[in-house]
Amino acid sequence: MTDIDRSDLLTAIGSAVAAAPTTESAMQQVVRLLKDAVPHYTWVGIYVVEGDELVLGPYVGKPSPHTRIPLGKGICGAAVTEKATIVVDDVNADPRYLACSIETKSEIVVPIMRGERALGEIDIDSDQPAAFGDRDRALLEPVAAMLAERFDED
Ligand code: SME
Repeated sequence: MTDIDRSDLLTAIGSAVAAAPTTESAMQQVVRLLKDAVPHYTWVGIYVVEGDELVLGPYVGKPSPHTRIPLGKGICGAAVTEKATIVVDDVNADPRYLACSIETKSEIVVPIMRGERALGEIDIDSDQPAAFGDRDRALLEPVAAMLAERFDED
């Protein structure tokens, strides 16, 4: 995907998020638009912080066994604890990794922040090793910021 295509995708996601009737609907549209647009995104989901857990919301891909993750566990837990995007080139070499699918090779987790508070995160797995880089961050961090605007509204 070219940078221009990604810019168009970001615009389309921004429109969909702004027009969605509910937070749930906004999250559903984001996971669908991302999954459809980017071939190396094998599994796309959103986790929402509830108390001391991450709870799986909308996703596209195979069902995950990890529907609730304690904040201290997994790459998912690390991203909200560190309040920063985490890219893992080889999930099998990362001791934090909680396996969802035997085919998964790499992962990116982008926290959805409001100020200093993590509200949730976008989690994407790829069947390709080292699939994620700066271009994915440049796409996904603005999407997380758009979603942050829609959390806790309904
Ligand atoms: N791999 C994640 C768990 C969620 S699945 O990827 C859907 C982790 O290590 O936290």
